[in-house]
Amino acid sequence: MSDRVRIIEMGPRDGLQNEKSAISVEARIAFVQALVAAGLTTVEVGAFVSPKAIPQMASSDAVLRGVSHVKGAEFHVLVPNEKGYDAARAAGAKVVSVFAAASEGFSRANINCSVAESIERFKPVLARAKADGVKVRGYISCVLGCPFDGEIKPKAVADLAKTLWDLGCYEISLGDTIGVGTPGKAKAMLRAVSANIPVASLAMHFHDTYGQALANLYVGMEEGVRVIDSAAGGLGGCPYAPGATGNVATEDVVYMLEGMGIRTGIDMERLLAATNEISRLLGRPPVSRVATALNAKKKRASL
Ligand code: HMG
Ligand code: MG
Repeated sequence: MSDRVRIIEMGPRDGLQNEKSAISVEARIAFVQALVAAGLTTVEVGAFVSPKAIPQMASSDAVLRGVSHVKGAEFHVLVPNEKGYDAARAAGAKVVSVFAAASEGFSRANINCSVAESIERFKPVLARAKADGVKVRGYISCVLGCPFDGEIKPKAVADLAKTLWDLGCYEISLGDTIGVGTPGKAKAMLRAVSANIPVASLAMHFHDTYGQALANLYVGMEEGVRVIDSAAGGLGGCPYAPGATGNVATEDVVYMLEGMGIRTGIDMERLLAATNEISRLLGRPPVSRVATALNAKKKRASL
């Protein structure tokens, strides 16, 4: 497992979309810049969704424009439909992500349509993106369990992944939205999906609600997956997924990978600084175990 792993930083999007405190556009831009400076060269910076549904992601156009001068980084944004695609393109988006769900219950709660209807909404987005030279990433939520429909069969995830892949998504990110998965289930799901599409085009997007994310990521790496979505400080959650807490923390993932001899190119000190600053603005300490340990170590050293 000594080859490269690509980390897609979720902090400014998944991380902030469920927060009660309003974070200014300037602070969101500064957060993205701090993450890039720490070596996180792919960052999801916002979402072009209804501001009534997710007010925290309003002004994602200003955030995307505000980081457009940053060199050597790729910025992603969520788009649920053509309206979102139009707005994202107008703000200069070069990579967009569509998001579907493995369960009808979550699809309805999150984007107000059935899974089949969501695919119909994505088709024109993918067709236009192809013509515009824009890359499209595809998310599938609730791959290891749904807050409304319960158990999810690996085949349901594999079939939907194939549909998104055939439509032209370059990568499929598999979301354990409510963090209920355990390693055996994660392995079965990843095997089913990778029977349909190349494992090199899969990403793991695991929330850490039940503390299983690192174990599930490790199993996924054994299955050959090399792309991991994570959020600085363990921020994150979806307002339409009751009980969901943060993404696996980027610090925790980086610590595990570096400890395994896998180079991430990420500067932990700078990442910790980015996490501490956004945590200060949110008014609470990070949930990341590694960030907590490193902050405590610094405090001891300064005594
Ligand atoms: P809808 O109500 O079915 O849509 O919502 P509609 O077409 O009937 O439009 C309703 C209103 O929304 C209209 O405005 C539209 O203009 C507006 P009004 O006339 O009422 O003033 N609208 C939009 N505004 C801005 N941007 C748009 C847009 N589209 C319509 N793109 C819709 C459907 C998808 C828009 C809505 O349900 C929505 O925005 N949902 C947001 C869901 C979301 O962002 N969830 C969190 C991200 S997903 C996630 O976190 C999971 C993930 O991390 C992976 C994982 O963990 O599993 C990715
Ligand atoms: Mg998520």
